[in-house]
Amino acid sequence: MAGRFQRLGEAGRRSVSIWVDGEPVHALEGDTLMVAMLNHGDHLRRSEFDPSARAGFCLMGACQDCWVRTEEGARLRACSTPVQENMKILTSRLEGTWAELT
Ligand code: FES
Repeated sequence: MAGRFQRLGEAGRRSVSIWVDGEPVHALEGDTLMVAMLNHGDHLRRSEFDPSARAGFCLMGACQDCWVRTEEGARLRACSTPVQENMKILTSRLEGTWAELT
């Protein structure tokens, strides 16, 4: 799958492996989850209101359009969370509303 983002520079940083919905995703040290995930695919998650795909909006931690979660259920803003080796990210939401999951 072609990514929504395309890396144009700084490709010499150390590689970091993360997992998104069980699939390996290649990232580079210093990438945010958003950069890693959108270099790999075309969206970050599904909307909680309809079946549409979401890929973030503000890119600076304000709009809350980029929520993803860890396998343990912690919510993360993909645009402001740096990747860490072996992170396991899920793009689907848990049952319930986001407000109930904080
Ligand atoms: S894209 Fe707006 S908070 Fe992450």
